[in-house]
Formats: sequence, C-alpha cells, structure tokens
Amino acid sequence: MAEPIDIAPARGRLGVLLVGLGAVSTTTIAGTIAVRKGFARPIGSLTQMGTVRLGKRTEGRSPKISDVVPLTALDDLVFGGWDIFEDDCYAAARTAGVIDPSLLEKVRPELEQIRPWPAVFDQHYVKRLDGPNVKKGRNKRDLAEQVVADIRRFKAEHALDRLVMVWCGSTEIFMTESPAHVTIESFENALEKNDPAIPSSMVYAYAAIREGVPYANAAPNLSADIPALVSLALKTRTPLAGKDLKTGQTLIKTIVAPGLKARLLGVQGWYSTNILGNRDGEVLDDPESFKTKEESKKSVLDYILQPQLYPELYENLCHVVRINYYPPRGDNKEGWDNIDLVGWLGYPMQLKINFLCRDSILAAPIVLDVALFLDLASRANMYGIQEWLSFYFKSPVHAPGLYPEHDLFIQLMKLKNTLRFLKGEELITHLGREYYD
Ligand SMILES: NC(=O)c1ccc[n+]([C@@H]2O[C@H](COP(=O)([O-])OP(=O)(O)OC[C@H]3O[C@@H](n4cnc5c(N)ncnc54)[C@H](O)[C@@H]3O)[C@@H](O)[C@H]2O)c1
Repeated sequence: MAEPIDIAPARGRLGVLLVGLGAVSTTTIAGTIAVRKGFARPIGSLTQMGTVRLGKRTEGRSPKISDVVPLTALDDLVFGGWDIFEDDCYAAARTAGVIDPSLLEKVRPELEQIRPWPAVFDQHYVKRLDGPNVKKGRNKRDLAEQVVADIRRFKAEHALDRLVMVWCGSTEIFMTESPAHVTIESFENALEKNDPAIPSSMVYAYAAIREGVPYANAAPNLSADIPALVSLALKTRTPLAGKDLKTGQTLIKTIVAPGLKARLLGVQGWYSTNILGNRDGEVLDDPESFKTKEESKKSVLDYILQPQLYPELYENLCHVVRINYYPPRGDNKEGWDNIDLVGWLGYPMQLKINFLCRDSILAAPIVLDVALFLDLASRANMYGIQEWLSFYFKSPVHAPGLYPEHDLFIQLMKLKNTLRFLKGEELITHLGREYYD
C-alpha cells in the first residue's frame, strides 16, 4: 500500500460563497439546511450518500466516502453570496419556485438571514438581465478589490476557517481566449484598463484565486478557464474546477453514449431539444449566451464517440442541440432526444428519450459535492485544475494538450481512485486476475 497523503482535518467552519443567488444556489442552500435539520434526504450527493470500495472484492469493505476522507460536515457550512437582485435567499427561492413552499417555510429563518451583497455585473455579458444591486468602481481592478473585501469581511464576521466559491451566476456571452487572458500580468493590466475581454465572472474568479479560495464554475462561460487564472491558482495553491454542471440532458447523453460506443453501434444523428421556463432559460434565450451553452453541450459526443478512431461509425454524426424558453414549465425542464443508430450490416434503429427532469434538483447536490471536494483538495494540498472532479461537469477543465474525459463512468472511476490515492489505498483497475490465479 502507498503512503496516504497528509490531509489537514476539516476543523472549524467552511464558508460557501455562491455568485448568483438564483435557482441553483437557493436550491443548494435551502436543501442543505433542510437535510441538516432532518427534513429531507441528500439524494444525488456522493459526499453525503456515496460509498467507495476499498481493497479486493472479497474484503467486503465499502465505507461511506465521508468516512474515508475528512469532509466538512453540513453543520459547519455557512453560505453567503452576491446577486444583482436584493431579494434575500428565502424570497429568491420563492421566485425560483423549485422547492415546495411548505419545505421552504421550515428553513425560512436561516434563508432570510442570507442577503446578497452587491454584485459585479455588466449587462454587456448577460443581455437579458438587469438589476439594482450592483457595485460601482473606478475599473475592474477596483471591483475585484471590493469582492476581496466582501470575502474577508464574511470570513471574519462568521469566524470561518476556510472558504470556497462557486459561480452559479447566469451564463455569460460566448467568448474565446484573448491576449488579456494569457499571463497574470496581462490579466491584471486588463483589469486596470477595463478591458472588455474581462467579464464579471472573471473578476470574481480572480478575487477568489488571489485569496487562495478554491473556485468552481457551474456555468459554461470561460471564467477561471484561462491561462492567467490557472497560473495564478498554481501560485496561490488554489484548486479549480468547472465548467457547466452536468445535469439533465447532457447527463443522460454521457450515460447513453458510452454504452452505444462500447457496443460499436454507429450514430448518424443525435437531435436534442429542451423546453425550460426558469430565469436560466430566459438568459439562454439570448443567442450570445446560448452559444456559450451550445458549445459546452455539443462537445461531449465528439470526445466520447471518438470519430477519428471510428470514422465509419461516427464521422458524419449530425448533432443538434436546442433550448427553447417556455415559461409555463419553470424549472421543470423537459428534454427530448432522438438518436439515429446504425447496427449490424448498416440496419438503422432509433432510440427516443424523454426526460422530465428538474434542473436545479439535479444541480444542487453537485454544487454541494463540488464545494466539499474542493475544500478537501485544498486541505490535501492539491491545487490548480482538479480533473478528478470532471464527473460533475459538461465541459471539464483540463490541462493544455489533453482531451477532456466525458464518459461518466470513467469520470467516476477517476474520482473514486483519487479518494483511494489520497488514503494510500490500492487503486482499482478492474483487471481482477488475482481472483482466478
Ligand atoms: N440548473 C442546472 O441544471 C444547470 C446546469 C448547468 C449549468 N447551469 C448554470 O448555472 C447557472 C445558474 O443557473 P440557475 O438556474 O440558478 O439560473 P438563475 O437565473 O436562476 O440564477 C442565476 C442568478 O445569477 C445572478 N447573476 C447573474 N450575473 C451575476 C453577477 N455578475 N453577479 C452576481 N449575480 C449574478 C442572477 O441575477 C440570478 O439570480 C446558469 O449559468 C446555468 O446555465 C445550471
């Protein structure tokens, strides 16, 4: 057995900073408090319900993940965050309409105490939104300093030991890497000069990373996924994760596609469409924000199916993704997938999937897990990109020159092997010859 990694204990309280107190954040916060008080169960969360097999299959050792690695207890989490609207977390959760009012009432006092701090916001990056609770500053550098001040004040006021930040704000317009994003110096210079290449999400990410606060991006916009901020994270020993939570249709896609590919069934077409009526759906109704989401949703099949290795099966795949804003459904998204398959001798088949899901109900356990695992990473002195958290994301951040791993089952194996590695336990390869020798 290898030596276990030295992990600092999860002593004291962990502050969870959420940027954007919308549907995902309020469902995470209200849900965590409801679980803490015994009103509901944390279904979908690996940190709360998951187990990890240790040793041989014959040993019968499958402890809970939370008994294997030291995770912060739900009782020790303190939530805070920013939004462009002034509503407290209770009012925002009522607006989001995800959690039943009867359950929300039970956690109302705790939620009402969480009031969003003024946000760093510029409508240029999210066209369909506008709100009053917005910071003013000389330039983006000044705004970043104000975010740093918020972080420090929150930490002091609640006597917190550690912090993590998760961007749960709206999806910003599509942007690609620019010269401002290359080095820490060019980035800081761009902050000073109010360069349009720096959207609001990067200002928060910069503030967090400079403070050594682990940062994850639940949305598909670039945010911390640029060389300048990855370098800064290495310098400040800050773990990073992202981008775009893998929920709903893409979750199902990354469950089904590896199965089709495993059996070498060809795929000629994959048509995915959604109706969604929450504020996220409204923001994504803007073509520039949708483009960011579309890129994130579309890339998964290319990587899973590997058309370069199997041109006869996947080279001409027609992959279409649509999201339509349809207010009557609120957060209860409905997704349809039509998959045109090809089998033995070229015979066509079709597979139809109709998923009536709840977007934020699928997202909340991910936000909780990512926050707790990033804090674990920080205490285990793992910093920079945390590829083992790819499991949770549609566009996993990855080292330059590597392709991202999208197959959910490989991602889960990577996550659990990382936990085994941290504890000095044998990694599981599934070779299994020893049982037959
Ligand atoms: N729900 C899911 O399953 C899911 C999956 C993947 C990604 N996402 C992404 O997560 C994000 C949040 O989703 P949601 O359903 O909670 O959306 P939402 O619209 O309910 O909440 C987003 C909140 O962010 C706030 N906001 C926007 N820009 C901000 C800024 N610069 N600073 C502070 N606050 C800001 C908005 O005012 C809003 O309250 C979206 O980008 C969405 O695309 C959600």
